[in-house]
Amino acid sequence: MKPEWSNWIVIFTILNILGMYWLLKATSKQPKEELEKENTGHEWDGIVELNNPLPRWWLYLFYFTIFFALGYLFLYPGLGDNKGYLDWTQEGRYEENLEAYKAKADAYYAKYADMPHEELMQDAQAMKTGRSIFLNNCAACHGSDAGGAKGFPNLTDDDWLYGGEEENIVATLENGRQGMMPALGAGMTDEELESVVQFILSHTSRETASEDVVAAGKAKYDVMCVACHGADAKGSHFIGAPNLTDDIWLYGGEEADIRETLLNGRNGIMPAHKEILSPAQIHLMAAYVKSLGQQ
Ligand code: HEC
Ligand code: HEC
Repeated sequence: MKPEWSNWIVIFTILNILGMYWLLKATSKQPKEELEKENTGHEWDGIVELNNPLPRWWLYLFYFTIFFALGYLFLYPGLGDNKGYLDWTQEGRYEENLEAYKAKADAYYAKYADMPHEELMQDAQAMKTGRSIFLNNCAACHGSDAGGAKGFPNLTDDDWLYGGEEENIVATLENGRQGMMPALGAGMTDEELESVVQFILSHTSRETASEDVVAAGKAKYDVMCVACHGADAKGSHFIGAPNLTDDIWLYGGEEADIRETLLNGRNGIMPAHKEILSPAQIHLMAAYVKSLGQQ
């Protein structure tokens, strides 16, 4: 609000309240004895309207509202830009509530903070809490059954991009993860691309092209892919390169899916949660995720 506006509003409000006071004063004068019976001149069927003052209690109620308004405007924001004596703000109130909530939540999670994972996984109440945090924070991406979807890993299969140990999962949750599969297929000829796809498929039970093609694919693999996916194509937890031999696929295991992965690259992003969940909650969630993998 512009300051000059604020000033006008202050003046207008005060004048209004003063005006109200004056109006009450002016209309509440006790009429003199002899005037008491004076009527307003309104008459219906012999019933006359007397010009009596307001009843006292009613009058005082009006004075009270004026008094209340002044008190309110002194304590709380309401008079133009004035913040009020109590410095009350909606944001402040929101933050107070939030802090009260956090204190309550912290007290609740404190008992889980020092519990080892094995114990947490046996604790039905803890796992129930984990499930509700999961539904609120994770299910949108990983699915309400944690079964994942294309590009979003299945968390129930005990197959891990980044490792399934406590410290791996905690690191995943705290800092997030970013998978970086470069678009290497774009620089290959169609034939080379096809041979690599066939080599990858040769690790599965699917039918593949001739051995020569697979061998050519392996040669290409050994140059271009081995650094990340490893000599045995079993991947690396360190950079989140998936195991290509277990027939568990993040982006699909059909020829077309693998070709697309190679041509366009893939960049799965798991968002960091350390600003969203407290350390005790992350500790609990890591145990919950581990328990999913063991079902
Ligand atoms: C915005 C979507 C999104 C949300 C929300 C999300 N995740 Fe993820 N998460 C992913 C993606 C995508 C990956 C795979 C990252 C990659 O491809 O490298 C992943 C990976 C993971 C992994 C690693 C899996 C492995 O195989 O190593 C775990 C564990 C995980 N998420 C748990 C969670 C939990 C628990 C939550 C909730 C607190 C959560 N995620 C919330 C998208 C999400
Ligand atoms: C710089 C490291 C790096 C190199 C080099 C690399 N990859 Fe990857 N690859 C990854 C990562 C990381 C992912 C997971 C991407 C994600 O999580 O979004 C991945 C994913 C894949 C997938 C998808 C797996 C699935 O489960 O859907 C395939 C297939 C694949 N890579 C094959 C290859 C092949 C073949 C080559 C060589 C031509 C190669 N990659 C080279 C890091 C690499």
